[in-house]
Amino acid sequence: MTTGKIQRTEDDDIREAMHEFPYGIYVIGTTRDGQPNAMIADWVMQISFDPRMVAVGFERDSSSLARVRDNGAFVVNLLSQEGNGMALARGFVQPADASKVKGRSDGAAAQQHDKLAGVAYQLSERAPGCPILDDALAYAECAAEQFIEAGDHVLVLGRVLYAEVLNSGEPLTSTFTGWSYSG
Ligand SMILES: Cc1cc2nc3c(=O)[nH]c(=O)nc-3n(C[C@H](O)[C@H](O)[C@H](O)COP(=O)(O)O)c2cc1C
Repeated sequence: MTTGKIQRTEDDDIREAMHEFPYGIYVIGTTRDGQPNAMIADWVMQISFDPRMVAVGFERDSSSLARVRDNGAFVVNLLSQEGNGMALARGFVQPADASKVKGRSDGAAAQQHDKLAGVAYQLSERAPGCPILDDALAYAECAAEQFIEAGDHVLVLGRVLYAEVLNSGEPLTSTFTGWSYSG
């Protein structure tokens, strides 16, 4: 007999708990063939003092991961709650390659989305050609040193070549946006 009650599973508990973990909201700047790209990400953390290193968890099929593999460099831009931080974040939610979103028509799936159109940025010299956003709260230029398979993601360990606070304000976080990538 069906009671109409939906059974909770252990996975529901895990998802709910992981969803509570707070994250910063970052834009990962990459490049390939002279074409800069930027991807919103929140799975970013410092992992070493000496040398300074950060880790970023990339989806296996993100075009950004392919760019980092080819170019060996990336920039971590931390967004700000102030000014246009939220608007900037919204503009980076789409993938560069429209076919990544399931269910799109062939025509729509073939489109490339330039997430940096209308966004003010400079190209890094230390992380060659990777975009540093003018409105980032802080950024870190990184050299990709290790690629570690981690389930359905690839953890990229990057050595921090240089980092700087660009603007004052509070960092944009998953708690502030209410958006969830985890869980
Ligand atoms: C709030 C938010 C956080 C995200 N965090 C990550 C992340 O940490 N790692 C990741 O690979 N993708 C993350 N994504 C998904 C990527 O931004 C998305 O897959 C994007 O399509 C990849 O872009 P690309 O194909 O231009 O590289 C996140 C998306 C959102 C909306």
